[in-house]
Amino acid sequence: MSTATQPAPQAAVSVEATDKARVSTMLSPRFYTTDFDAMNRLDVSPVRAEWDAMMLEYEGDNNHDHFQRSADFGEQIRDLPPALHQEFMDFLISSITSEFSGCVLYNEIKKNVDNPDIKALMAYMARDEARHANFLNMSLKDYGLGVDLGSLKRTKRYTFFKPKYIFYATYLSEKIGYARYITIYRQLERHPELRFHPIFRWFERWCNDEFRHGESFALILRAQPHLLRGANLLWVRFFLLAVYATMYVRDHMRPQLHQAMGLEADSYDYAVFRITSDISKQVFPLTLDTDSPAFRAGLERLFALAQANEWAKQQGGLTGLLKRGVCAVAAFGTFARLYLHPVKPNTVPDDVRVSPAW
Ligand SMILES: [Fe+2]
Ligand SMILES: [Fe+2]
Repeated sequence: MSTATQPAPQAAVSVEATDKARVSTMLSPRFYTTDFDAMNRLDVSPVRAEWDAMMLEYEGDNNHDHFQRSADFGEQIRDLPPALHQEFMDFLISSITSEFSGCVLYNEIKKNVDNPDIKALMAYMARDEARHANFLNMSLKDYGLGVDLGSLKRTKRYTFFKPKYIFYATYLSEKIGYARYITIYRQLERHPELRFHPIFRWFERWCNDEFRHGESFALILRAQPHLLRGANLLWVRFFLLAVYATMYVRDHMRPQLHQAMGLEADSYDYAVFRITSDISKQVFPLTLDTDSPAFRAGLERLFALAQANEWAKQQGGLTGLLKRGVCAVAAFGTFARLYLHPVKPNTVPDDVRVSPAW
């Protein structure tokens, strides 16, 4: 038994973990705000039948009893090698930040609209995300590192996104969140000996919440077909690439975490991209060609530049600053080349809804 199984210290929130969650960088999860009047004007009547069926699923709340610890949870917590411990803490903190980011955004929209469809949806999604963030936070508190969510909500910087950007970005982050959790869950189902923390056992039912959140944004997008054609496809491409590239760089910065689960960051990420692209065919008439060698070389280069940027930051001084400038210009160029890489066309199906079958 490890020391981590001892009762959590009183008021186990830590300044260090909260500060880490508060930092806004290119790679860290952000908090968003948007145009609430535009949200209020959303009309889901073009997808009414599917919308109502989805709302019944939310109301049924099949995960209402899922986010509670089993009696043997503590016994399964082991001491981890220092590098893995550090990466696992970073993983928990960034997961909490993104779960809580959804919770805050959905709650703010709920409070600021009176459109009954949107208000009800946002209340359900905020409910789910609050459960997810709190469940993750319990695991951090075991290590004396809980995040102070109240303080984070008050003090983290908010980024304003127009509603359409919120739809693209949130749709993708919910679906990629599903793909990430299910890929880990399936791997550890095949290799239970690699399950180094009990929280991974919760991922299967958990990711069904994320899948459903993604379905909600799929319906919102399909109710506004102009967002899925013409010049807006340039935004679809942009958000697909931004979400994939961010995940790729962030995961490759944490090699131990994936190796401990028997997943190389590379194979894990490409498996997640494949699932996300498959799902996203329900709304987007194109997918990125993530299996093309040129595309993959571009992502590798982005990661190398992110690492070089990190070294330059540690070096500091004028030289460090100059090197960081060079990295930023090169990263912009690499991102632009990836953006221009040919995409694969897709015919969007008549039925929007997809099942979480991965
Ligand atoms: Fe979530
Ligand atoms: Fe979610």
